[in-house]
Amino acid sequence: MDARVAPAERLPIAILISGRGSNMRAIAERARDGRLPVDVRVVVSDQPDAPGLATAAAMGIPTRTLQARGFRDREAYDAALAELLASFRPELIVLAGFMRILSPPMVARFAGRMMNIHPSLLPKYPGLHTHRRVLAAGDAVHGASVHFVTEELDGGPLIIQARIDVRAEDTEESLSARVQRQEHRIYPQAIEWFARGRLELRPGPGGVQAWLDGRPLAHPVLVDARGVDDCSNSSSASSSVE
Ligand code: GAR
Repeated sequence: MDARVAPAERLPIAILISGRGSNMRAIAERARDGRLPVDVRVVVSDQPDAPGLATAAAMGIPTRTLQARGFRDREAYDAALAELLASFRPELIVLAGFMRILSPPMVARFAGRMMNIHPSLLPKYPGLHTHRRVLAAGDAVHGASVHFVTEELDGGPLIIQARIDVRAEDTEESLSARVQRQEHRIYPQAIEWFARGRLELRPGPGGVQAWLDGRPLAHPVLVDARGVDDCSNSSSASSSVE
């Protein structure tokens, strides 16, 4: 990407985390460097002890914690979360290891403006323990996916995926580490496309669909871990766009 982006041209975003926040950090560092045209307005966690909160604070990003305890149900929590987010006026909500299922009203409120990253090649292995399930199934390939959020858990339209080989000696930990390295490439890429107005969610005949550069994505953009190293260069990653 080119040089620094003027603040007025940066897309305001909010990032939701529950834990370490390495994806949040990858995004925030690129924003700070001027490689990603976004302004991280706030990092919100549902866990007060999420290590990512300290990381964000150290980078000068406002942080908030909203615990589920005390709310009568999921919808009440989500309503408070939506209000908190809206007060920062984000144009994109970035779920980065936010380990809560969102209620339909919350998803509807930010329809087309919310993305998630998931540690598997969706639609394989939605939900938890993806690395364990890949090893148990004996899969030869694994990876990560970025998708728009819809009401279906880990089921919204796919945007970009990164693929890695599974090695004979792999463990959950080694897979997690290699998948995360790829996550740190593909999430900033998807956000960059959105921030530059190249990516959107549009209604289609079979439901909503992700569109990139004016064309529906029949398949997610695929980045091979053995392939191009610099995913921040969108022309390299978009070679497989159909
Ligand atoms: C990431 O691997 C992300 O894909 C996963 O949580 C991790 C968060 O890591 N998300 C999910 O499993 C959501 N279904 P991080 O806190 O270091 O970014």
